[in-house]
Amino acid sequence: MIKFVCYASIILSMVQNNNCVMDSRAEFGYPAGLMSICPGSTKPALIPKSQLKYLSFVVQGNGRTRQKYSYWNAKNIAKDPRINFKRKTLLVAIGYLDSPNLPISAMFANEYEERGYNVILVDYQRFATVHYHLATRLMRPVGMHVAEILVQLTQNGLDPSKLELLGFSLGCHTASFIARQFQTMTGRNISTLTALEPSGPCFRNLGPDDRLDASNADFVQVIHTNIDGYGMATPMGHIDFYVNGGEYQPSDIGFYPCTTTCSHFRILPLWVSAIKNPKKFIGMKCKDIQQARDSDCYSNVPLETTVMGLGIDRSKRGIFYLATSKEYPYYLGSKGLKPEYVYWKTLTDINDGDETEIYT
Ligand SMILES: *[C@@H]1O[C@H](CO)[C@@H](O)[C@H](O)[C@H]1NC(C)=O
Repeated sequence: MIKFVCYASIILSMVQNNNCVMDSRAEFGYPAGLMSICPGSTKPALIPKSQLKYLSFVVQGNGRTRQKYSYWNAKNIAKDPRINFKRKTLLVAIGYLDSPNLPISAMFANEYEERGYNVILVDYQRFATVHYHLATRLMRPVGMHVAEILVQLTQNGLDPSKLELLGFSLGCHTASFIARQFQTMTGRNISTLTALEPSGPCFRNLGPDDRLDASNADFVQVIHTNIDGYGMATPMGHIDFYVNGGEYQPSDIGFYPCTTTCSHFRILPLWVSAIKNPKKFIGMKCKDIQQARDSDCYSNVPLETTVMGLGIDRSKRGIFYLATSKEYPYYLGSKGLKPEYVYWKTLTDINDGDETEIYT
């Protein structure tokens, strides 16, 4: 009973600051996290030449038209009528089981195309649609071969300082492998790597050489929405946003909570909204991840803030908390800097009144 009261007050303490000794970790141990160790996932892997035909590149432009290039003829991308290397170029690294033919890539491709980017979607579905443990290992040679193509394109007009990589989940680490191979091959950096909810399984206990890291590009922006599930808590960028604390997201479907899968995928509409509403997602700097998890960065002095998204201030560094609303388009604007809009706080209203109707 004492424990129960203690837990209830821990939840309340988020909004009321009452004291309660939090000893559960000492008593119950620390969670290892979902699929924290995947033996062999960092073992060298190679893709035989005969399989490279399954690595391909889809160029999108000129009013959402598409053209596919295989690994073997990808240098012709430089001559594609959709491509103009005077503009910025976006390369999208798909997630586990995903494909450029599925909605996630299309959603991002359309947004970036509309904003004048050359868009290239990398299709490595053949290598990302195997056992997850194997997929994580295969992303290393995939990254190398994609980097080879980027080097060829660089020799044909692509300027790496105008190149941005966008990854989601497993694709964040693939983007990392692409970017670091590009560094090794050219001695140059890709300009920007945007990592949407980098996957934790098989990566959460690896060091910076074996997963996404700030050293991979000139600027690495990371956004976390489910660090205790499919995502990963470690800061891995120049700037890391922990959305609503980064653990779980507010539910947009009535009384049912946004659980692991919901919170992991929340990053997708969130990023689309951030592209469409470039100044509306304002994060605040935290001292550490614990402070972000606890929604407790509001009274830091001085309060350092920055927008999340394409218009981010690239000089900002560190761990940022970002509050959102529970429904698309999710942004709170400057309200997001006021503690009364913390989602968890609004939940306390549920039991404030005397209503107890069950069937309404
Ligand atoms: C590449 O980016 C990393 C991380 O931002 C940086 O430390 C390094 O100096 C950069 N290298 C070059 C050649 O610009």
